[in-house]
Amino acid sequence: MRIVNSAAAMQRLAKQWQRHGVRIGFVPTMGYLHEGHLSLMRRARKAVGARGVVVVSIYVNPTQFGPTEDLARYPRNLKRDLKLCRAEGVDVIFAPTDAEMYPGKPKEGYSTYVVEEKLSRAMEGASRPTHFRGVTTVVAKLFNIVLPHVSVFGQKDFQQAAIIQRMVADLNFPVKIIVAPTVREPDGLALSSRNKYLDTDQRKQANILRRATQHAQAAVKQKPVSTVRLKADLKRFIHTAPLARLDYVEFFDPETLEPVSRVKRGTHMALAVFFGKTRLIDNGRL
Ligand code: PAJ
Repeated sequence: MRIVNSAAAMQRLAKQWQRHGVRIGFVPTMGYLHEGHLSLMRRARKAVGARGVVVVSIYVNPTQFGPTEDLARYPRNLKRDLKLCRAEGVDVIFAPTDAEMYPGKPKEGYSTYVVEEKLSRAMEGASRPTHFRGVTTVVAKLFNIVLPHVSVFGQKDFQQAAIIQRMVADLNFPVKIIVAPTVREPDGLALSSRNKYLDTDQRKQANILRRATQHAQAAVKQKPVSTVRLKADLKRFIHTAPLARLDYVEFFDPETLEPVSRVKRGTHMALAVFFGKTRLIDNGRL
């Protein structure tokens, strides 16, 4: 497994593969890898085959963190990450520095951003106003550096995956996006690098996100329900976990992400819940 830190060197390597007809599968991550990330690497391998290459980027992207968010304390363990990637048969790790990705920032030398203007507004975009601008910018840069044929994203971040798909379509990136299912703990909690922040009691209650989605699934199984009523019902349900503080719960069309006034089977639900300072998200089809 090769570790590349420079964007120019990574791009040279990618161009060489492209010239030789080698298919490139790409999984962007912020590291502190878990089984969810590893499932995306396996999906990328499946997509490019044994003769293709799988590239994983490990980069905690500062532009997608708000000023009061957890950038400084975001968990990191590169040594462990490399070991996990090696065991998955990853070919190349791209692990750039901030100076490599955003030269001169914040004073001068970096001033171009990619902004998706529709799907980015609600939910995560409303709670974290500059978040998706950072995500689309870094993913566009990574696509230009790694030149992938396919790139795999997790359904865990449903809105992010939808925005990346829209960006790829709108800006004609020659890459196929695959969205892979959410990997969960046995009790239903979606794997996330941020789960590490939870203390024992918070961790016990954290599967309320999954249980809330299942609660909504049961509520709309027979007939459609008004969004207002279901939201009120879910608020009560989520607060049966005393340490949980609801940030938002939304019901929307999975294609357009437009909110619906009546919730039925096939409607998508997404929610964000705080446990102390730790903010967890989850989503699912009802
Ligand atoms: P990160 O949170 O590290 O996640 C990297 C990828 O792993 C994302 O596509 C995410 O949806 C996926 N993922 C996370 N938890 C998962 C789970 N439990 N099951 C399946 N997939 C899961 O998302 C980011 O990083 C960044 O925004 C990034 C796209 C790398 C841009 O900086």
